[in-house]
Amino acid sequence: MSEMTRREAMKLIGAAGLIGPVLPWTTNTAMGTVPRPVKFGVFADPHYSSFKYDDPTNYAVSYAKGLIAFVERMNEFQPDFVINLGDFVTPRERRYGNTPEQYAGFKEDLGIFWPILRAAPCPAYGVVGNHDVGWIRGGDEKVSTAELIAKGQTGGHALSKDEWCQILSMPGRYYAFDAGDFRCLVLDGNNAQDTDADNARDGLRGAYWIDQPQLEWIKRELVAHQDKFKLVFCHEELHHTDQLRGSGQGGWVPLPPHYKDGSYVGNGWQVRELFEKDRKVAAVFHGHYHKNRWTVYGSIHYITMENYPDQGENWAEVTVSSNRLQMVGHDKQVGFDLAMLPVDPTSIAPPQDIYAEAVRQRKEYHDKKRSGG
Ligand SMILES: [Fe+2]
Repeated sequence: MSEMTRREAMKLIGAAGLIGPVLPWTTNTAMGTVPRPVKFGVFADPHYSSFKYDDPTNYAVSYAKGLIAFVERMNEFQPDFVINLGDFVTPRERRYGNTPEQYAGFKEDLGIFWPILRAAPCPAYGVVGNHDVGWIRGGDEKVSTAELIAKGQTGGHALSKDEWCQILSMPGRYYAFDAGDFRCLVLDGNNAQDTDADNARDGLRGAYWIDQPQLEWIKRELVAHQDKFKLVFCHEELHHTDQLRGSGQGGWVPLPPHYKDGSYVGNGWQVRELFEKDRKVAAVFHGHYHKNRWTVYGSIHYITMENYPDQGENWAEVTVSSNRLQMVGHDKQVGFDLAMLPVDPTSIAPPQDIYAEAVRQRKEYHDKKRSGG
């Protein structure tokens, strides 16, 4: 990104405003030693594809321009790590369902785009998105390409989670890593419901799930690293939050809407309860909805990121200390400057343009669906 472009981007951020209440920093003496701040670069849902669809308006038409600009900027920012929040590439011929050709093209695209991110001057992490992999029951199942192709799921989901881990060199579909003095947890919400836990506790049944072995692993992680502050990354939101009333615990009200009701982790409330009890989870980052959203549960910030549309450059540079989260947004990604632990439960209105655009896009999506588009 040239200096001029960066200045322009910063101007955009200024126009959107650095959002959120700037509260007095807390001393957190009860929390123990104050950790060294962690810095990371993050973006969600670029849906990269080297394949140009016949529909020129398809958001999936994207080349490496935005990704290269991100990596160049990271060379200046010098983060502890970079992370993509899932839906990194988009399968070719997504409208025609799974085929061996699509599977091959998908792997080829991962091989094209992931190494570009790996060129960042720090470790690069990936989160499993619903468009990144296929699954039947999810969890730790072993599933073959043939079985995934036979499932015939439109959208192309013929890559198993094991293959995804292999290609991206990730340690597992969910995993943890240290960054500075922080413990970072990466979750996999792409699973079928495997317990009788209430899947409508948030008021609406969710399509995704944190499987029992993963839930147990989260508990073990929190106990093993009780002394550390934590950050969490999960493609799908761990909450269903009323658009008009918000969570009632802080964040934006009204919350900018998204396209698909119920496209969230149905037992996210179980995970949120664990995080709240831990008292050292600083923030949770999501993608999937392609919308700027910010809400609060249990004194923890839940931030959903804008996506990377056609060659866009929507990313954030985030700096987190024990008591403050500063997020500088680029292009359509909004910025935040938030106090943490405890979080002010006061809600504020989102930027009007962000909200109005989200409402417009939701209406357009549903109008198109109704008319069979
Ligand atoms: Fe997604």
